[in-house]
Amino acid sequence: MVTTSAPGKCILFGEHAVVYGQPAVAVAIDARIRVSLEVSESGWLIDGMQFDKQRHPHLDAILKRMWISDGGPPLSLNIESDLFGAAGLGSSAAICSAVAAGLLHMRGTPADEMPLSGIATTAHLAEAEAQGGRASPIDTSTATLGGAVLVSDKKEPLAHWKYSRDLRIDGQRRTWEVHSVELPESISEASLVIGYSGRPGPTAQMVANVATLLSNEPERMEDIERIGNVTRAGTTALSLGNLQAVGIAMNECHRLLQGLGVSDGDLDRMVEAALPSSLGAKLTGAGGGGCMIALTMEPRRTAEEIELVGGRTMVSQLGASGVRIEND
Ligand code: PMV
Repeated sequence: MVTTSAPGKCILFGEHAVVYGQPAVAVAIDARIRVSLEVSESGWLIDGMQFDKQRHPHLDAILKRMWISDGGPPLSLNIESDLFGAAGLGSSAAICSAVAAGLLHMRGTPADEMPLSGIATTAHLAEAEAQGGRASPIDTSTATLGGAVLVSDKKEPLAHWKYSRDLRIDGQRRTWEVHSVELPESISEASLVIGYSGRPGPTAQMVANVATLLSNEPERMEDIERIGNVTRAGTTALSLGNLQAVGIAMNECHRLLQGLGVSDGDLDRMVEAALPSSLGAKLTGAGGGGCMIALTMEPRRTAEEIELVGGRTMVSQLGASGVRIEND
């Protein structure tokens, strides 16, 4: 049996603007997905039950690409998650990345020779296939590489370029440049508190709402560019360990995202509640539900404040390690 794991993610800066070519930065969080895989004598199984392709389109896509196409035998997969499900924390991307690493290991790739850009590419293609072609590579790259990851339409000098990813969407080719952002040791002084609204964030709907807003009010593209500039400033602050400035950039992102109409009452309440004990707070991901994050030196107090207004919380350090084999 092979057991692998991959982290979930939070977007620190740049959601929605990344759809229009601006940079976005995500950090890997401590909450992980763990997958164990073994050859099965009883056909394809997930958590002991018969594998239903409709319920697990991501897994179906990755297994077809990496295993079934090469005549691999049926497998039994067990999946455990520390993440809130369907909350924008990248659980499907983490599953794709962990399964891809597990399949490679079963075929003989040593744990310390995992081809990370190959795993991220395969996981991204599987996500895109399962979601009908719209996924950006930020979730799958963060789950695979770990740490902090910056994705942009172009190479950004403030981060270390790793690889390009491209995808055909609606007949057009879309290219992303994937970078890692070096995190200083002092980053471990701060924590992220993740507050979950209890409702999934409808990503496709929120992306479509922003597209409608921009087509009705083209001058609002300035706000998208502002998010891009705040993201660049926030990334520099992050790599220098200037936590105060990271917090200010997060607050500014939240204000701009509110202006785009993607926040809601629950997210705003949690952000407000977290602010007195935090360096910065914002919604994370698509909005309209899902999660917010607060950067704080007092995680317990911040978590309590978020819970008092109805959020479910989770505390994490910034920049957990990426996909790995657990039982080598
Ligand atoms: O819902 P999430 O956390 O996967 O975030 C979506 C982020 C967007 O920028 C809104 C969309 C995207 O594809 O990057």
